[in-house]
Amino acid sequence: METQTLSVADAIRGRRTVRHYRPDPVPPDLLEELLELTMQAPSAWNMQDRSIVVVTSASGRDALSKAAFGQPQPKEAPAVLVFVADAAAWRDRNTDIAELAGRNGAWNAEFTALFDGRAEYLALEQRGLLRENAVKNAMIAATYAMLAATGLGLASAPMNGWDPELVKQAIGIGDRADLAIAVLITIGYSDAVPPHPGRRPRERTVFAERYAAAR
Ligand SMILES: Cc1cc2nc3c(=O)[nH]c(=O)nc-3n(C[C@H](O)[C@H](O)[C@H](O)COP(=O)(O)O)c2cc1C
Repeated sequence: METQTLSVADAIRGRRTVRHYRPDPVPPDLLEELLELTMQAPSAWNMQDRSIVVVTSASGRDALSKAAFGQPQPKEAPAVLVFVADAAAWRDRNTDIAELAGRNGAWNAEFTALFDGRAEYLALEQRGLLRENAVKNAMIAATYAMLAATGLGLASAPMNGWDPELVKQAIGIGDRADLAIAVLITIGYSDAVPPHPGRRPRERTVFAERYAAAR
């Protein structure tokens, strides 16, 4: 497969939220590469407490469009990535993570013992932050997906405007209170990449040493 080469900087600068798509499907090998790149995203303790449901069927995308208050992106885009955050992933079914990291020589016994102790997760649990933690990891993966898509010549759009219960129903987890929807990313091709909406000057958004935004 011939992959388009775009520098990371060019992908960051070139990515735009694309709200209208051509109906052309994303070739399976390109979608596969996009998913592989997306799952290279880091997560706290490498817990990988996020997953993607890839929705390409017309009925599935239609349900997601309805869940998104009629926004056209899921209906028009040939693929929608639904990022699911699993706030309980740290509790069990994760011994494979430490085993693999150990086999790869990435984690030593000391680090593995820290992982096994789960102290950070117990503290998050106490503060009611487990969901937030898993959603953060899912959002980082979603960012990778958007930039990887741009790098592969694909248009994308992040979406947060939807009813979580309807999105969950659309992907078959309507009964799972333990899972959260983090974000939807639509993927496809577009003839019309919109202009950059601009960003505030950095004096308003980047500070040295101490937070300094006006109240
Ligand atoms: C988390 C997140 C959720 C968003 N949700 C929506 C959405 O539901 N519908 C929409 O039209 N745009 C949505 N956007 C797109 C933003 O409006 C867009 O990123 C912003 O205007 C900047 O434009 P750019 O992405 O082209 O740089 C979302 C963006 C982010 C980061």
